[in-house]
This record gives sequence, C-alpha cells and structure tokens, in this order.
Amino acid sequence: MESGVLGLDSMLGGGFPRGRVILVLGEPGTGKTILSSQFLYAGASKKSTDGSNLEKSMFIGMNEPKARFIDEMRAVGMDFESLESGDDGSFAYVDASDVRRIPDQAKIGRIPVGGRELGFVNLIDTIQEAIEKYSPRRIAVDSISDLIFRYPKIEERRPVVLDLVETLQSAKATCLMTSELLSTGEGRIIQPEEYLAEGVILMRTVQKGIRSIQVLKMRGSKIDTKPRPYVIKDSGIEVYATEELY
Ligand SMILES: Nc1ncnc2c1ncn2[C@@H]1O[C@H](COP(=O)(O)OP(=O)(O)O)[C@@H](O)[C@H]1O
Ligand SMILES: [Mg+2]
Repeated sequence: MESGVLGLDSMLGGGFPRGRVILVLGEPGTGKTILSSQFLYAGASKKSTDGSNLEKSMFIGMNEPKARFIDEMRAVGMDFESLESGDDGSFAYVDASDVRRIPDQAKIGRIPVGGRELGFVNLIDTIQEAIEKYSPRRIAVDSISDLIFRYPKIEERRPVVLDLVETLQSAKATCLMTSELLSTGEGRIIQPEEYLAEGVILMRTVQKGIRSIQVLKMRGSKIDTKPRPYVIKDSGIEVYATEELY
C-alpha cells in the first residue's frame, strides 16, 4: 500500500504491508505527524473510476484539536478539510485528546480509580467505536507516547501496548502509530511497542539540518534497512532513498 511519501515506498519494498500495525518512532519535530498524515492523505484522496473514494482514512489525534491539525497539515500541502466534508467523507478526524487530560488520580463520582487505566480504556473504546463507525482502510494514531509513558515498567506496559495493537489489528486496516523517542543513542533500550508492532520506522535528526529515516523492521516485506536522508518542505516529506547518509 503506497505510503504517500515520495521515496519511502522503495525503502519499504513497494509500500506498507496491508493490514499491519506499524510504529513510527522519532524525537519531537522529526515529522511523525506529517508522515502519518501523508499516508492517510494518499488513501483518502484516491478515487476509483466512478469517482468514489477507495480507501477511507482515519486520524486518531491525542495531541491537538482538529482545527490545529488541519492548519498544520495545510501548511505542508494537505487539505484534509475538503476530504472530510466531501461527498464520500473519505477522511475522519477522531479527537482523543481527552485521554491526556485524565489525571493519574481520577475519580468516577466519589470513587477513586486508576487514572492511567481509565485513560487507556478510554482510548481503546474511542478507537473501537471509530473503527465501527468509519470502517477505515488506513488509520493513524498520533501519538501513543502520553499513554504508554504512564507505564514506565516494561511488564506493565507490555499488556497495554498489546491491547492497543490487537485493537488496531481487528480493524484489518493498515495502521501507523507514532511515538516519541527520548533517546536515539547507541544502547537505547528497545521498548515493548517496538517488539509488538509488526513494523518500525525510525526518524531522527542526526545533526543540525540533517534528517534521517530508517526502516528497522517490516514483517512480510523486503526492506532497505539503511538510514536515508529526508527533508520536510512545503509539499511535505521527501525521502532520498538512493542517497547515503554522510
Ligand atoms: N513548510 C515546512 N517546511 C519545512 N519544514 C517544515 C514545514 N512545516 C513543518 N516543518 C517541520 O516539520 C516538523 C514538524 O513535523 P511534525 O510532523 O509535527 O513532527 P512530530 O510529529 O514528529 O513532532 C518541524 O521540525 C518543522 O520544522
Ligand atoms: Mg506530532
């Protein structure tokens, strides 16, 4: 399935594998939101010969309200507003920002409940409802960091991430989920989400002005695992898939 990002498909051996759940990892500002939006945009703008949309796309936003998302993506060449309001409604923005506002010590009425569990159950419910409502072929969840960083212990984090991955798998759509990376250095600890996702893409800023993208794994695909340079422009992300990083 084409990624919607110039140059990336050849690194992926032809595009994202259909029906898989893929993790996009990177430091803040590396372009994770733009990349996942380009992926959705490619599907949502695709038309069959009779003019109807072929791949409904859904963005589950944890970080920003819809208006800001629309504005920021317009600045890099994507008009999600008209896709959403179009006849076939080929794009849906699902606002899941409530999840972040649930404090660690939450209450239902007077009864204290685990806030992080409440936030998590909330997100899973939101995703499930949205999948039923829209039946999307492409999904982006941006980002899962706030949720999973509440579980610093690997043994607690693992079941939570597994639940999320299985929920997305049940949609039979191709799914990208983004997560913030705190350290990209050598010897960084591989987190459960990297093991549990069926594909992992790493985006980094290697030095001032030089950006690097690397496909770490992609189940069922013949991939180029070398880091490659990419740029972010007014037209979005472009990967230089045949260039070496220097
Ligand atoms: N028109 C543009 N030209 C060049 N860079 C841009 C443009 N618009 C946004 N960016 C860059 O994109 C990055 C933000 O992308 P985003 O997908 O929001 O990152 P992330 O989600 O990883 O935090 C910033 O580094 C910003 O400088
Ligand atoms: Mg972002």
